[in-house]
Amino acid sequence: MIAGKRVLLVISGGIAAYKSLELIRRVRERGGDVRCILTSGGAEFVTPLSVAALSENKVYGDLFSLTDEAEMGHIRLSREADLLVVAPASADLMAKMATGRADDLASTALLATDKRVLIAPAMNVRMWEHPATQANLATLRAQGVLTVGPNAGDMACGEYGPGRMAEPAEILAAIDSFFAAGARLSGRRALVTSGPTYEAIDPVRYLANRSSGRQGHAIALALSRLGAETTLVTGPTRLADPAGVDVVHIESAEEMLAACRTALPADVAVCAAAVADWRVAKTSGQKLKKNGTAPKLALTTNPDILANLAAAGNSRPRLVVGFAAETENLIAHATAKLTSKGCDWIVANDVSPGTGTFGGEENSVHVIDAAGVDSWPRLSKDDVAARLAARIADHLAGASVTGSAS
Ligand code: C5P
Repeated sequence: MIAGKRVLLVISGGIAAYKSLELIRRVRERGGDVRCILTSGGAEFVTPLSVAALSENKVYGDLFSLTDEAEMGHIRLSREADLLVVAPASADLMAKMATGRADDLASTALLATDKRVLIAPAMNVRMWEHPATQANLATLRAQGVLTVGPNAGDMACGEYGPGRMAEPAEILAAIDSFFAAGARLSGRRALVTSGPTYEAIDPVRYLANRSSGRQGHAIALALSRLGAETTLVTGPTRLADPAGVDVVHIESAEEMLAACRTALPADVAVCAAAVADWRVAKTSGQKLKKNGTAPKLALTTNPDILANLAAAGNSRPRLVVGFAAETENLIAHATAKLTSKGCDWIVANDVSPGTGTFGGEENSVHVIDAAGVDSWPRLSKDDVAARLAARIADHLAGASVTGSAS
């Protein structure tokens, strides 16, 4: 799976950098091409000469080298790769990545890339366990950064615990499975809706709901991880845009529908947004004034985006998936939605008070299709997304590719 792929390896400062030399060798043995960026910290542990000799490529190190910029700009360097691997990933480089700093070639390339990134952290156990590093890790994971390791063991600094960089064979296996998984939906197009919608009352007030967008964003990321060219149409959320996904930010249901139509054709559409059922019939162009009596808001029904996509005729995605958040008679109500919305699958989830699903980290779902009900255990929203993406890939396997997908 690695054969023919281009890996951009970032070697940052840490004693584990010596293992990266072995990693270069192994990727090349499998037929992969390796280009390396050596940070100034990394160059304290391994020499540019060894890295160049093993990769049989020029080693990049200085952001301001005019020769490097003329031959291969940092943007091109990061975009021409199929995968960026950071090994070792120091606490400092992880912090830079999490905060979007770009003050050397490695951090600039990592910020400028449109490709997936795999990090192999390596640091002292206390640095690894520090809440700052763990928060950076959570931020990076939410952006779709993949991780391998660290492992627990004796450390060069004399302490014991997690912080040792994963072995070259483990990093190689992670690279391999990235490319293997990445192929499953490659050439497919996916459309995902996520988040709430905001329905304006006047220029400053709106109707909304408490959807966090976590499940929808996780699904977009999971589909893109499997190689789908993914568009995420999302209402306002606090979440970062998932890496590698084309994100369209909208506010109202009508804007969401228009953005979804523009995103067609797609092989699969997953509607996870909590679209407002109603909008204010007549939005005021000026801020409504308080004049002693509360205004009466007349509401009108919003378009049903899921039903619209399912009835999109020739541009109907081959697979249309909806969600049903119910507080009672979950399966019966969700099954009825399969027919009323005209979709192929309904992912039913219980959002009754006390489940903590709405806005929470976990979800327990039942996937309902014409064949019946497939009930999954309670999982994190990321795991629900990964499992759903895998089910979608199984379903589309063998079907011909839609529209302009290349
Ligand atoms: O009818 P209900 O809101 O329960 O249906 C939920 C499903 O329909 C979700 O998949 C949601 O994204 C979708 N939906 C939609 N447009 C609406 C209302 C719901 O796409 N206006």
